[in-house]
Amino acid sequence: MKIFTLFGVASTALAATTQQLAACRYIPGDRGWPAVSVWDRLNTTVGGRLLVTNPLAHSCHDPTYDNVTCATLKHQWGQPALQIPYAAEFLSPWFQNQSCVPFTDQSTPCKLGNYASYSINVTGSSDIVAGSSFAQQNNVRLTIKNTGHDENGKGTGKGALSLWTHNLKDKNFISAYRSSYYNGPAVQLGAGVQGEEAATFAHQYGFRVVVGSCPTVGVVGGYTQGEATQWEVVTATGEHLVATPQQHADLYWALSGGGPGTYGVVVSMTTRVFPDQPVGAASFSFSVATTGNGSEDAYWQAVTTFHAQMPLLLDQGVYTTYSVMNNSFSIYAVVAPSHNDTELTTLLAPMLTALAQHDGLAPQTLALQTSGASNIYDLLAADLWPALSGASLVPVMGGRLVTRANLDTNLAGVIQAMRNITQGGTFYFACTGINTTAGQVVPPVADNAVLPAWRDTSFSCIVGVAWSWGDSWDPIPAWQRELLDRVLPTFEAVTPDSGAYLNEANYQQQNWQQQFYGKNYPRLRAIKKRYDPNDLLYAVSAVGSEAWKADAKGRLCRA
Ligand SMILES: Cc1cc2nc3c(=O)[nH]c(=O)nc-3n(C[C@H](O)[C@H](O)[C@H](O)COP(=O)(O)OP(=O)(O)OC[C@H]3O[C@@H](n4cnc5c(N)ncnc54)[C@H](O)[C@@H]3O)c2cc1C
Ligand SMILES: *[C@@H]1O[C@H](CO)[C@@H](O)[C@H](O)[C@H]1NC(C)=O
Ligand SMILES: *[C@@H]1O[C@H](CO)[C@@H](O)[C@H](O)[C@H]1NC(C)=O
Ligand SMILES: *[C@@H]1O[C@H](CO)[C@@H](O)[C@H](O)[C@H]1NC(C)=O
Ligand SMILES: *[C@@H]1O[C@H](CO)[C@@H](O)[C@H](O)[C@H]1NC(C)=O
Ligand SMILES: *[C@@H]1O[C@H](CO)[C@@H](O)[C@H](O)[C@H]1NC(C)=O
Ligand SMILES: *[C@@H]1O[C@H](CO)[C@@H](O)[C@H](O)[C@H]1NC(C)=O
Ligand SMILES: *[C@@H]1O[C@H](CO)[C@@H](O)[C@H](O)[C@H]1NC(C)=O
Ligand SMILES: *[C@@H]1O[C@H](CO)[C@@H](O)[C@H](O)[C@H]1NC(C)=O
Ligand SMILES: *[C@@H]1O[C@H](CO)[C@@H](O)[C@H](O)[C@H]1NC(C)=O
Repeated sequence: MKIFTLFGVASTALAATTQQLAACRYIPGDRGWPAVSVWDRLNTTVGGRLLVTNPLAHSCHDPTYDNVTCATLKHQWGQPALQIPYAAEFLSPWFQNQSCVPFTDQSTPCKLGNYASYSINVTGSSDIVAGSSFAQQNNVRLTIKNTGHDENGKGTGKGALSLWTHNLKDKNFISAYRSSYYNGPAVQLGAGVQGEEAATFAHQYGFRVVVGSCPTVGVVGGYTQGEATQWEVVTATGEHLVATPQQHADLYWALSGGGPGTYGVVVSMTTRVFPDQPVGAASFSFSVATTGNGSEDAYWQAVTTFHAQMPLLLDQGVYTTYSVMNNSFSIYAVVAPSHNDTELTTLLAPMLTALAQHDGLAPQTLALQTSGASNIYDLLAADLWPALSGASLVPVMGGRLVTRANLDTNLAGVIQAMRNITQGGTFYFACTGINTTAGQVVPPVADNAVLPAWRDTSFSCIVGVAWSWGDSWDPIPAWQRELLDRVLPTFEAVTPDSGAYLNEANYQQQNWQQQFYGKNYPRLRAIKKRYDPNDLLYAVSAVGSEAWKADAKGRLCRA
C-alpha cells in the first residue's frame, strides 16, 4: 500500500499574527496593497509559479483586441473546457459580471472585476503554506480555485491571491485500505482530479467511484460528501494534517459534506470505490404538443404522473436527471446502477403504463430509448459525458430540495408551483431524482456534515433562466430579483422542512445558513473557528462567511 509518498511535503507552521486585524482586505490601488517587489518575493518562494491575472477575454477589448482570437472566444465562452486550463478563469456568468467578457463592446475596457489578481500554480502543500502565510501577513484576500465551476463564484474574488489546485492530479489505487471504519478498496485523489479522470482511473482497476455527472467538475474540494475515508489538509494556520473519523475527527466531519473552501485547503482525498457492475439507462420526453389532446392541462397532468411514480424507482436505487419547461419535459437519463436494461424496463413498467393510460403517452410517443452498459464508465464515456461536456452556467439560478414528505402531502401543490414558475418560459427546472438512503445505497463511511434534509429528499431541483451567451444581459438583474422575490418563495412554500444543495443554489438565498447546512451550522461554525481562527479563508455562502461583507468597492471587510 502506497500512501502519502505522493504528497509528502513538510510544512512550517505559520507565525501566529500579533498585528491588529485590519478592517478590510486590500485591493489593487490601496496604499497597503503589496508592492511588486513583495509579490516577486512570494514568486521566488513558490519556485516561480506565481501567475498574474490577465483575463482571457482581453483579446476582445482595446488596446489588445484581436478579431480572430475574439471570434474563437465568443464561440466557446461558457464551456468548461475553454476556461478550466487558465488559473484565474471561472464559469459563473453572474460573477463574471460583464467585467471582461467577449460580448461587450470592443471599446469597453477589460477590468479585473471579481477575478483574483494573482494565482499560485500549486504543486504541493508547501505552496499552500506559502500562499496562506503571504495572504495573512499582507492582508490580502485568499481564495481556493480548482476548476472554477462554482455557480456562486466561490472560487474567485476581487483582489485575491488564489491557490490554484488544478494541477494536483496524482491518483493512487489502494487495493486494501484498512481502518476501524472502512476496510476495502479505495483511491487517493489529488485536489485537482476531475470527475472524468477519477472514473476513468477507477475503471482501469475494475471499480466505480462517486463523481458528479458533468465530466469536468472537481471531485475533491468542492463536491464530495459521504464516501471519503480521509482528507489530507493544509489548515489556514499552516498545519499539514490528515483528518479521519479517528484523528481530527471534527475536521473530517466538516469536510465531509459541510461545504467547500473554508476549513482548510484539501491536498488529497482518499475515497471508497465499488466493484464495476452492469448499469441500466433509459430516456424519454414529452411536450404539450405530444400529450393526450395537446392541452397544457394534460401536459402538467403527465408531469404529475412522472413525479408520483418516480419515487418508487428511486427506492430501488435508481436515479434520474431531467428538465421541466413550460411546455416540454425531457429526461436526460434514468440510471439504474447494478441493473441491466431489461431489469430497468421492468422497474419502469408501472410509470409507463400510467403515462399511457392517464396521459395518452404511448412508449413510441415518448421516444423511449434504453442505453445501458456493462459498467457505468462505458455509459458515461459513450453517452452521458459527450452530452454534458459543453454544459454551461446561466447567470441566474436557485435551488431547492423536494422531500418525500413534500410529495406525499402535497404533490398537486408542488406541480402547481412548477407550472406557476415556468409560465411564460423564462424560468425552467433541472432536477435530479435520488433516494440517498435507498436500501441499495451503501451507508456513509462515518457520520458526516451533509445537510440532513438530503436524507429525506426525492428531487434536488435547480431553477434557472432560459439564457445563453450572446443573449442580452439587460434582463438579468430583474430576473435575479424575480428569482428571490417570487420564484424561490413560491417553491419554498410548497416544500416545507427542506433545504437546498449548497452547490446548486442562489448566492443570495434567504436564511442560507439554515437552508444549506441545517442544524449542523453552529457545530460547523465552531470547527471553522478552531482550524481558521483569523477567518483567512472566505467563500460566498461558505460556513463562517458572515464574518465578512463586501464594501462599495468590492473589498472584503470584517462585518
Ligand atoms: C456544468 C456543471 C455541472 C455540475 N454537475 C454537478 C453534479 O452532477 N453533481 C454535483 O454535486 N454538483 C455538480 N455541479 C456543482 C459542483 O459540485 C460545484 O460547482 C462544485 O463547487 C465544483 O467544485 P470544483 O472544485 O470543480 O470547482 P471550483 O469552483 O474550483 O471550487 C468550488 C469551491 O470549492 C472550493 N475548493 C476547491 N478545491 C478545494 C480544495 N482543494 N480545498 C478546499 N476547498 C476547495 C473552492 O474554494 C470553491 O469554494 C455542477 C456544476 C456545473 C457548473
Ligand atoms: C514568477 O517567476 C517566473 C519565473 O521567473 C516568471 O516567469 C513569472 O512571470 C513570475 N510571475 C510574476 C507574477 O511575476
Ligand atoms: C478579422 O479582420 C480581418 C481584417 O479586417 C478580416 O479580413 C477577417 O475576416 C476578420 N476575421 C474575423 C474572424 O472576424
Ligand atoms: C457587478 O458590477 C456592478 C458595477 O458594474 C456592481 O455594482 C455589482 O456589485 C457587481 N456584482 C457582483 C456580483 O460582483
Ligand atoms: C503549472 O505547473 C505545472 C506543473 O509544474 C506545469 O506543468 C504547468 O505548465 C503550469 N501552468 C502554468 C499556467 O504555469
Ligand atoms: C383535454 O384534456 C384535458 C385534461 O385531460 C381535459 O380536461 C379536456 O377536457 C380535454 N379536452 C378535450 C377537447 O378533449
Ligand atoms: C439482466 O439481468 C437479469 C437478472 O440478473 C438476467 O436474468 C438477464 O439475463 C440479464 N439480461 C441481459 C440482457 O443481460
Ligand atoms: C402564481 O402564483 C401567484 C402567487 O400565488 C399568483 O398570484 C399567480 O396568479 C399564479 N400564477 C399562475 C399562472 O398560476
Ligand atoms: C413557453 O415559453 C415559450 C418561450 O420559451 C413561449 O413562447 C410560450 O408561449 C410559452 N408557453 C406557455 C404555455 O407558457
Ligand atoms: C428511500 O428508500 C427506502 C427504501 O429503500 C425507504 O425506506 C425510504 O423511505 C426512502 N426515502 C425517501 C426519502 O424516499
